[in-house]
This record gives sequence, structure tokens and C-alpha cells, in this order.
Amino acid sequence: MAPRLLVVFFSRSGGTQALCDAVIAGITEGCPAVDLRILSPFDADVDDVRWADGVVLGTPTHFGYMSGALKDFFERIFRPLLEETVGKPLALFGKGESDVDGCVSSVERIVTGLRWKQMLPPVTAVGPVTEEHLAAAHELGAAVAAGLDAGVF
Ligand SMILES: Cc1cc2nc3c(=O)[nH]c(=O)nc-3n(C[C@H](O)[C@H](O)[C@H](O)COP(=O)(O)O)c2cc1C
Repeated sequence: MAPRLLVVFFSRSGGTQALCDAVIAGITEGCPAVDLRILSPFDADVDDVRWADGVVLGTPTHFGYMSGALKDFFERIFRPLLEETVGKPLALFGKGESDVDGCVSSVERIVTGLRWKQMLPPVTAVGPVTEEHLAAAHELGAAVAAGLDAGVF
């Protein structure tokens, strides 16, 4: 059966959206039959996470942290899923203007609490989105989709 992949991302001014578009292009290339669900953090809920074989999260840096949107998602799903989704495969991409480390570590702390497992290192972009950033995002999506399809993750 084709893998079910949930992409949850937020973008206020298009930077994270550009990364997400590249991730999604990579996903559909890595596994054309993938069952893909793409949602805003405000719309994603516990049942979307339960449905997914893997989760990809994308967020800009806001005040040195993940976006409030993604934090809202975690606040709603954390307790209901705490014991239920241990080992859920996860990938992450983040965007910042001058720094993205606090953003990434804020997400990593929470997914560590959930005991989700990162499939690959996060893809990050600081400053204007470059072709290198987009290539890395594409590669992340392709590797995640192909890996889930092959049962690697
Ligand atoms: C409210 C707010 C807070 C931000 N805080 C930070 C920050 O702490 N560090 C940083 O590097 N960029 C910060 N930024 C810049 C964004 O992370 C950056 O512009 C990013 O590319 C936005 O992504 P988006 O275009 O997907 O919305 C902030 C932007 C906003 C709107």
C-alpha cells in the first residue's frame, strides 16, 4: 500500500511555502503513488496524525521559536497522542531571516517528548530562499517518500 504522508506547514510571507512546494515536488517524485494530505497547522488535528505513516512539518522562525501556528497544532495534539504515536516518522523544514536554530530546537524538543523519530536531518533556510535550499527541500521530500514506501523508516 502506498504510504500516507501528512504535511503540516505554515507560511506568512511565502518563504516556507517555497520550501514546502519543493518538499512536495520531491515527495511526489520519490513515490508517485503517495497518499498526500497537506494542511495548515490550524486545520490539522489528531486524526490526521493518526492517519499518517509519516509527518512532515514546516515552519518559519517567529521570535526565535516555531511559528505560533505550529505551536497551536502541538498544543492540541500533544496530550491526546502522547502514548499513541510513539515512533511516528517525522521530517522537518524551517525558515528564518537571520537564525533558525531556536525554531528547529523548539520543534525537536516537542517531538522528542512525543517520541517521534526524525527520518532525516532538518532542512533549514536562513535569509532569501536559494536554489540550494530548494534542492535540499526537494531531496528531503523525495527521500522521505521513497524511504516510507520502501519501509526504511
Ligand atoms: C512575528 C515574526 C517574528 C520573527 N522572528 C524571527 C526571529 O526570531 N528570527 C529570525 O531569523 N527571523 C524571524 N522572523 C522572520 C521570518 O522567520 C522570516 O521572514 C521567514 O522567512 C518567514 O517565513 P515565511 O515567509 O514562510 O512566513 C520573524 C518574522 C515574523 C513575522
